[in-house]
Amino acid sequence: MLTIGILGVGELTEKVVMGLRRGGFAGRVLLSPRNHERAQQLSRQCTCEVMADNQQVVDETDLLLLGVRPEVVEQLSNEIHLKPQQTLVSLVAGLKHSELQRCFPQARPVRAMLSYAAQINQSTVVITPGGEPHETLLGTLGSLTVLDDEAAFELATVAACMNGWFYFFLSDLQQWFTDKGLSKEQAAQLVMGNMQDCLASARHQPQASLEALGSAIATPGTFTAVGLEVLRSNGATLAWREALEEVLNRLHKAS
Ligand SMILES: NC(=O)c1ccc[n+]([C@@H]2O[C@H](COP(=O)([O-])OP(=O)(O)OC[C@H]3O[C@@H](n4cnc5c(N)ncnc54)[C@H](OP(=O)(O)O)[C@@H]3O)[C@@H](O)[C@H]2O)c1
Repeated sequence: MLTIGILGVGELTEKVVMGLRRGGFAGRVLLSPRNHERAQQLSRQCTCEVMADNQQVVDETDLLLLGVRPEVVEQLSNEIHLKPQQTLVSLVAGLKHSELQRCFPQARPVRAMLSYAAQINQSTVVITPGGEPHETLLGTLGSLTVLDDEAAFELATVAACMNGWFYFFLSDLQQWFTDKGLSKEQAAQLVMGNMQDCLASARHQPQASLEALGSAIATPGTFTAVGLEVLRSNGATLAWREALEEVLNRLHKAS
């Protein structure tokens, strides 16, 4: 059975481990010891083993998940020596294949992008390249997309940022409803419920374009159309494009 190792036990990787266990992964999970308290807690919660050092994680593992912050990767790479062709799944945003290969010349590098919904096996999971064993393993965390090239993968990175922005967008909407007198719970129900309705409806009609679905609701003279006009004339829709472009530019500069 596969043994996996976590280099960097933090916000993201602990959710990945929770999701893997929840998705039925029964193999050994070995954790790097740094942030000892956190690693111990995850180990109790998800039946993992905290190793003595990073090299021990590498030595006893078939597949490694790299979950440290970008600025730490170089220093970590000097600490450890991977096995030939050991699969190294990097979750580090913006870190290119060429950089991974330079830092970990022995590795078979894979890039993965996912969200915190991995902990409940409902994340959008994007990987490049495909292959086993990582495809099957990460596929248990949600809905898997395999991309062939890195340029497309960077777009998936932008989409993962969008996931984070949605929380703030929804929070602003919720705040407006609470300012108008609804309870937090009522406002959350209205905001998330309507977002959910939109997604459910769009997924139910995959052949229809999103633009067409919106236009069928925002017909001339409707209240929806009035609000849409205000959003567009205030640059709200343009601002989303600009944010997407800015993140993509930063990702290109990071290469
Ligand atoms: N791919 C995706 O879908 C996605 C989504 C979100 C985030 N990310 C990426 O995930 C990475 C982690 O983000 P995060 O928010 O989870 O960060 P985090 O909570 O800071 O976790 C990183 C962990 O790595 C530990 N660490 C630092 N140096 C180490 C070393 N030499 N050996 C072992 N562990 C070490 C840190 O310990 P200390 O606190 O003691 O330094 C910390 O516990 C980032 O690179 C980010 O870009 C990816």
